[in-house]
Amino acid sequence: MNKSCINVGILGWGTVGTGVSKILLNQNALIAKNSGVELSVKKIVKRTLPAAREGVELPVDCLTTDPTEVVDNPDIDIVVELIGGTSESRTLISRAIRNGKHVVTANKALLAEHGAELFQLASEYRVSLNFEASTAGGIPIIKTLQESFAGNQIHSLYGIVNGTCNYILTEMHDRRVDFSEVLKAAQDMGYAEADPTLDVEGIDAAQKLILLIALAYRSNISLSQFYVEGITEITQKEIQYARELGYVIKLLAIAKLGTDNRVEARVHPTLVPERSLLANVGGAFNAVCVIGDAVGPTLFYGQGAGEMPTASAVVADIIDAAKSVQQGVSASISRAWLAGSQSEVDVSPIDDIETRYYLRFVVADRPGVLAMIGTILGNWEISVASVIQKDPHGMETVSLVMLTHSAREKNMKAALAEIHTLEAVKGETKLIRIEEEVDF
Ligand code: HSE
Repeated sequence: MNKSCINVGILGWGTVGTGVSKILLNQNALIAKNSGVELSVKKIVKRTLPAAREGVELPVDCLTTDPTEVVDNPDIDIVVELIGGTSESRTLISRAIRNGKHVVTANKALLAEHGAELFQLASEYRVSLNFEASTAGGIPIIKTLQESFAGNQIHSLYGIVNGTCNYILTEMHDRRVDFSEVLKAAQDMGYAEADPTLDVEGIDAAQKLILLIALAYRSNISLSQFYVEGITEITQKEIQYARELGYVIKLLAIAKLGTDNRVEARVHPTLVPERSLLANVGGAFNAVCVIGDAVGPTLFYGQGAGEMPTASAVVADIIDAAKSVQQGVSASISRAWLAGSQSEVDVSPIDDIETRYYLRFVVADRPGVLAMIGTILGNWEISVASVIQKDPHGMETVSLVMLTHSAREKNMKAALAEIHTLEAVKGETKLIRIEEEVDF
């Protein structure tokens, strides 16, 4: 088949859908010049039909409330799913694939949960299922891992992939305000969701990590298999002590290839050296650092959300799918997901990781307390790198902040359990892992 014009149907006309329609309608000639494909927006599905939108002039009869006018429409070649959620989107994508349509989606939650099934289906029907916009918005990290780095063994990957968390942490760092205050301001300004749980608890970042790991390690892992911790417990004290020690706190999604064919996967607040590029990724921006055996360290930076950056990624996927339609070749399908449940690597349990730690103990300020804590850490083969105590003598409790050398997580947990039996240790200990490998 050699079609001159490729027809696109869009499910969902919210923020990203509007951005996609703007690019497809307003940059049609540019896209044709750049990529050699001519795209036409045939149908857009919106549950309740909206009034006209500024900057978008849709063709007559383009808007509909009925998704079958897209997924069952014989004239439509490419279906773009931008409705989100994991139920209706799954049904509609499956139906579009069964109807032989190429699919583009920005839906990380759906792919993180049902990716194996959907890619299997796409493979069966020889259509593509493209998902660049699902992770880090406008940053082309999916294509980079799938294509540009295909000749690399990925040693490790570190992502600031949640803009809401990065915005909150940056404000806490720069303006010295508390988590709850920044979150409220972010919600008032429309940066953070009314229910920010998925973002601030690290789930959104974890869903994106699942996709990155699938591509980097041909491994199909689920949310329940790895450690996820959000930023809700980060206080001004942690931000300020970290700063004093030469670090900045970032929520990182981390993947590392270990020995025995296992991969470390985790999402948690992390101390990164303040001079590193990652430490200086501020506000709602995203960045993904990938270290490959051939390419070495690389860093990709840009806007991870928002109307036009996300639309930019969706349009790139549409163009890729359109080329497949036009050339009549079977689609470029992500091989990683085709492995289904037969992952090539296993996930290491968090207890097995080895890393450096920031610890803040809340203790009674009297002779011998530091020695007792140091002895227990030593007994568990945890070596202390530095200690600071800033609170003035005479207070009921003080903060004792330590940085350790690299230690095994299992030992750290056991040591902390023992330390908490000491009468002089008064409150919960704050533990934040440190990453030095991102120091470039
Ligand atoms: N909620 C996400 C963020 C954007 O804050 O980065 C969508 O992936």
